[in-house]
Amino acid sequence: MSKINPAVDYETHGGIALIAIDSPPVNALSHAVRAGLIAALDAAEQDSAVHAIVLGCRGRTFSAGADITEFGKPPREPGLHAVIERFEASAKPIVAALFGTTLGGGLELALGCHFRVAAADARMGLPEVKLGLLPGAGGTQRLPRLIGPEAAVAAIVSGKMISAKAGLADGLIDGIVADPIQGAMDFARAVLANKTPSPRVRDRSEKLAAAKADPASFEKAAAEATKRLKGMEAPAACVQSVRNAFTLDFDAGLAAERDLFMKLVVGDQSRAQRHIFFAEREAQKIPGMGPEVKPAKITRAAVLGGGTMGGGIAMNFANAGIPVTIVETDAAALTCGLDRVRETYDISVKRGALPEGTTEKRMALFSGTTDWSKLADADVIIEAVFEEMELKKQIFAKLDAHARPGALLATNTSTLDVDAIANATKRPHDVLGMHFFSPANVMKLLEIVRGKATSHQAIATAIAIGKAMGKVPVVVGNCDGFVGNRMLARRTTECERLLLEGALPHQVDAVILKFGFPMGPFAMGDLAGLDVGWRIRKHRGVTAPISDALCEQGRFGQKTGSGYYVYENGSRTPTPDPVVEKLIMDSSAKLGITRRAISDQEILERMTYPMINEAARILEEGIAIRPSDIDVVWIYGYGWPVWRGGPCFHADLVGLPTIVERLEHYATAINDPGLAPAALLKSLAASGKGFAGFTGHAQAAAE
Ligand code: 3HC
Ligand code: NAI
Repeated sequence: MSKINPAVDYETHGGIALIAIDSPPVNALSHAVRAGLIAALDAAEQDSAVHAIVLGCRGRTFSAGADITEFGKPPREPGLHAVIERFEASAKPIVAALFGTTLGGGLELALGCHFRVAAADARMGLPEVKLGLLPGAGGTQRLPRLIGPEAAVAAIVSGKMISAKAGLADGLIDGIVADPIQGAMDFARAVLANKTPSPRVRDRSEKLAAAKADPASFEKAAAEATKRLKGMEAPAACVQSVRNAFTLDFDAGLAAERDLFMKLVVGDQSRAQRHIFFAEREAQKIPGMGPEVKPAKITRAAVLGGGTMGGGIAMNFANAGIPVTIVETDAAALTCGLDRVRETYDISVKRGALPEGTTEKRMALFSGTTDWSKLADADVIIEAVFEEMELKKQIFAKLDAHARPGALLATNTSTLDVDAIANATKRPHDVLGMHFFSPANVMKLLEIVRGKATSHQAIATAIAIGKAMGKVPVVVGNCDGFVGNRMLARRTTECERLLLEGALPHQVDAVILKFGFPMGPFAMGDLAGLDVGWRIRKHRGVTAPISDALCEQGRFGQKTGSGYYVYENGSRTPTPDPVVEKLIMDSSAKLGITRRAISDQEILERMTYPMINEAARILEEGIAIRPSDIDVVWIYGYGWPVWRGGPCFHADLVGLPTIVERLEHYATAINDPGLAPAALLKSLAASGKGFAGFTGHAQAAAE
């Protein structure tokens, strides 16, 4: 074996050359890889003893695509286009050996080869849309030529991966092999022996003919693929580019794809989505916690409380293949909890979201008990009982006697002090919060709440559990509402005020929907149930005149058929209700407030700036480690549009000086000193760098 450069190896086996990318962790197509590929291809082409070439990768996967860290930097030759063109133009047949996840530019490179074989568990995809982009190295032109424009537009707009089995069926790959490199070598030998023609994908047109003759079914597939992606630029560009594959010739289609890519890559949406890609991974890095801290192995889990949250949390364990025991107070509650879990699986199977037979397979991982001695072999125990401090303290004190030493003990509390709960045990270092969001089996966010005594190992284990469940874990500090709900509380306060001052629920919701949230705050409140907040307010002795009045009338939201809106005949569509409008007008009058017209701009500012201000306070107090963690919380827990990059990223785009000025204005206009800009917000604004310039808790403490 010889090294072409640090990122690409080259070797020959009989008449076959093997070019292998070796660039951990995911063989991204950095400048070194691209340069190495050209040099290796030169070597193979110049060697008259080489008759065919295999393109493979070392490590855990075939290339996962372009090196995203290079985006936004000056391009360095050779570009990926040039590399793919060279491979495609080679007179010697090239077989790509796919395994792991072949993604983006990695798949585009494979599409430039003459043949592709893949391991049985390989998956392939063009996920650029998730980064606010379209495949920019020929993917939108070559994929439709192999699998047809309808299937290509669905794959490219969704960014979903295609299995080896499906890829073989639709023409993406030419064979499934046991060992990718060996299989590709055998395939290459067979090509040589049989003198199999090696057509270039760019020259193939058989799968384009139908769409060329009648684009109706393509347009239908495109409309279906984009129907829920409002506000985003990339999906429309993907559709346009795939359409070009059958309306333009290959070179013109490629040039148009490149133009679209260049436009998107410098745009705010793609910058936001790339920010979130890295933010999600950064969130797993905890300062002071090195790789020597290893998560504990989890082979058995238990969940205390099989209600709304407990059932969903237990499903997450079963979905990750981990046996789980639900502990309840009595047999009836247990049966009820397990039945609800079974029903949820059944619904998913019925909808086709899970394959037939899944319910039984998953339910086989569940056990239920009222006997605490069954907790003895659990490696992690998550408590999800009623939100009452005394009950939680009792439970954690009791856990000391029943949980094995070293087991991770977590509470799913959403409002209570994690330290107080941890201190009810003799092992507070093993205790933390694992704050799931409802529905717990669906929502991706997991806030991991570290207490004063929580050990690094407990945090590492909780992160590993979250990842195994397919969640996005974010480690946060212990305070009222943690990160997400603490910021949400600021928005909720403004919601109520806006109604009293002159707005109506549907006006506020429309502004938030237009911003890109999937739901407005009032429709969301109706969905979650207004009684939840009402109970918390009563407990805390605070009021919210309009929301309280609705609850007093039994209007708890969708579940009672009315809340801020009315839901007739079991409909889930919020319809404005004149009764509520009158209630709002009366509330304003009762408080002596003269209603005024409120602009959409003011609504948007008051729905977002106080939250951004709270984000700055959260950073000041060290509750969040970094601004991008807050962005991840809001994207995955609360529906902040990913293409707006989260509250802190968005704030930097708006400009912190503007936000500081508006908060000062509202603090005076509404007479609420709580709206005055936080010290950190002001100093980040003055620095000119915004949240992106935040350098850590030490900086916040000094402000
Ligand atoms: N470029 C640069 N770095 C990348 C990368 C990429 N394409 N893909 C992953 N990485 C980095 C991650 O940031 C992470 O770095 P860290 O360890 O310093 O945090 C490291 O590689 C490992 O990544 P993960 O933690 O995500 O590893 P997993 O094993 O969980 O997942 C993966 C692997 C499925 C490949 C996942 O990393 C992934 O989805 N990567 C992105 C794939 C992608 O979007 N490709 C398209 C790129 S755009 C493109 O190709 C444009 C072209 O059309 C021109
Ligand atoms: P729930 O009322 O649906 O379920 C609580 C369950 O705990 C009931 O089934 C009850 O029988 C059981 N239980 C009570 N005492 C018990 C005991 N001593 N031993 C075993 N089981 C016991 O409540 P929900 O909504 O699931 O909430 C649970 C926890 O999750 C609360 O702390 C809540 O604040 C938190 N949470 C709730 C969210 C939500 O949207 N519902 C979101 C995030 C957190």
